[in-house]
Amino acid sequence: MTILPFLTAAEVPSLDAYLAAGGGRGLERARSLGPEQTAKEISLSRLRGRGGGGFPTGTKWTSVRNAPGSRRYAVCNAAEGEPATFKDRTLMRANPYQGIEGLAIAAMAVGADEAYLATKATFTRERHRVLEALEDMGAAGMLEGLTVSVVAGPDEYLFGEEKALLEVIEGNDPLPRVLPPFQHGLFATGPQLGWESHPPASAPGAGPEPNPTLVNNWETLSNVPHILARGPEWFRLMGTEKSPGTLVCTVVGDVARPGVYEMEMGSPLSELLEVAGGPLPGRRLKAAFSGVANRVIPATSFDTPLTYEDMRAAGTGLGAGGFALYDDTACMVDVAAVLSGFLAVESCGQCPPCKRGTGDITAALERLRAGNADQADLDVVGARLRTVTDANRCYLGTEEQLLVSSILETFPDDFVDHLGGACRLPRRTHLVPKVEDIVDGTVTYDGRQARKRPDWTYAGE
Ligand SMILES: Cc1cc2nc3c(=O)[nH]c(=O)nc-3n(C[C@H](O)[C@H](O)[C@H](O)COP(=O)(O)O)c2cc1C
Ligand code: SF4
Repeated sequence: MTILPFLTAAEVPSLDAYLAAGGGRGLERARSLGPEQTAKEISLSRLRGRGGGGFPTGTKWTSVRNAPGSRRYAVCNAAEGEPATFKDRTLMRANPYQGIEGLAIAAMAVGADEAYLATKATFTRERHRVLEALEDMGAAGMLEGLTVSVVAGPDEYLFGEEKALLEVIEGNDPLPRVLPPFQHGLFATGPQLGWESHPPASAPGAGPEPNPTLVNNWETLSNVPHILARGPEWFRLMGTEKSPGTLVCTVVGDVARPGVYEMEMGSPLSELLEVAGGPLPGRRLKAAFSGVANRVIPATSFDTPLTYEDMRAAGTGLGAGGFALYDDTACMVDVAAVLSGFLAVESCGQCPPCKRGTGDITAALERLRAGNADQADLDVVGARLRTVTDANRCYLGTEEQLLVSSILETFPDDFVDHLGGACRLPRRTHLVPKVEDIVDGTVTYDGRQARKRPDWTYAGE
């Protein structure tokens, strides 16, 4: 188990270079196998979604294929909004062809003749690379029978949530819907539970159509052509039985060489941290966060293998393979306040327990951080953590619950110190690890996020 460049094996400068290296064979084989057998090959490979949830990709394709409805769509989620991740952008920059080929195979397998590739408007470099690759692949006849549209979406964290992603593709704000995409897909005309403020975009008199829609992450789709070209057994040779393949990991924060490193699934997290240069001189690593959607990983769990099942058994999750590291100079009250603040700002407010809960928890953590809190503030945190997930349309409230409660449970001393007013630790300010770029081990974070208000406007703009 170790570093294993497979998806990140080479920078592919052109379609010719891609085809010369064997690109296109997966799509050819998928077309010869037909939709059903192609979905079966993906099921046999045991590929799991790399967008954060680790859902079995073959099962998802089969559900979309079999869901009732006469129109189907395929969507690639290239929004990459999870803090501490930069892997989809790395893959888009290095080799956009494999992701597009994967999307074309996925569309064929679910019976879609229209596909959407949704990425952020601010990812200009990646978007241009993808648009150029699409044009070249279209001109080479590789996308026959499929229309692929690139959608440039907003910077909001929720844009990457699949139900909000579909709203953005339809021209709306990133507000998650109620039903999942296979039940309420793109341009669906009902049933929509009566929650929308806008009428269904259908021709007058059209009957209710759910338009089952497949949403897969960019890295997930990048694996697909290789699986079809070389077979599911070959794919399963990498990684573990339940988590085969590789994981394109991002490591940022308090390590010597932050960056994107592709690891064989099953390698321990500690090995990834070694590859990323380990702690800074004289420091000791204290905690890792796999984005903001899972419980904190204390240093005592750093030997956990990078698989969905092992991370779950360790009480946390693999997320999208992005890790933010904090060393012994970091105050966990500070970290909790910053990460909770991110979720409070990004919460869309459709579910009051989520918007109000994340806001109240953040305010109490901020008072604690400033040394002005008392027991009543901790009581508010406890009460809101119990209800923040109530009646939620999406997972963001659960993220807050997992994140904050785990920091409180794992680092109680940091919180007790703050109740006394003082912080023993030297470093007091952290940015949300929302990655803008990584060049030669230097990470740029999105500094604008610190000025973002809970109504999604920015202070000073
Ligand atoms: C708040 C939130 C933000 C998310 N952001 C992203 C994202 O930026 N990119 C992504 O691929 N998935 C993101 N997801 C997960 C998607 O909803 C969805 O599960 C994923 O795109 C499915 O693809 P996969 O099965 O290939 O992993 C997010 C989920 C939540 C709850
Ligand atoms: S759970 Fe939170 S972020 Fe998700 S839809 Fe409801 S209010 Fe919005």
